[in-house]
Amino acid sequence: MGIPQPAFYMFKCEQSSPPGMPKPSCVSQQDTESQQLFQYLSQKIMQEGIMGTVQPIRTACLNRCNAGPVMLVEPGHIMYTALTKEKIDRIIKEHIIGGNVVEEYVIESELWDEAISPRDMKTQMGM
Ligand code: FES
Repeated sequence: MGIPQPAFYMFKCEQSSPPGMPKPSCVSQQDTESQQLFQYLSQKIMQEGIMGTVQPIRTACLNRCNAGPVMLVEPGHIMYTALTKEKIDRIIKEHIIGGNVVEEYVIESELWDEAISPRDMKTQMGM
C-alpha cells in the first residue's frame, strides 16, 4: 500500500497588503488575530491528530479580499469567509472531521458562482 494522499487541503490566504493600500487583505498589520490564523489552523490540525490527511497550505490572494480572511477547502471548492479562531474550530470539527460543511460561514453565492471550465472560457473568448 502506498502513502495515502491527503483527504483535504485547506488553503488559507496569507496575503498582507502593505500599509496605505486601499484594498483590504486577509492578513492585516492592524489585526493581530488575522496574523495568527494560519498557525492556529496548523496547531488545531495537529492537536486533533489529523495532520497528513489534512494539509494546511499558506496561499497568496484568492481574489475575494473583501470577504477576508478567507480559506478555501478542497475538495469541494468550499470558500469560508471572515475567518476567526472560533470559526476554524467549528470548520475542523464539523466539516473536516464531521463531514458537514459549516454553511453559515460559506461565502455568498453571488461572490462564488459556478466555475467556468477553461475550455468554455476559451470558447467564449473566441480563442
Ligand atoms: S488578500 Fe486574501 S483573498 Fe485577497
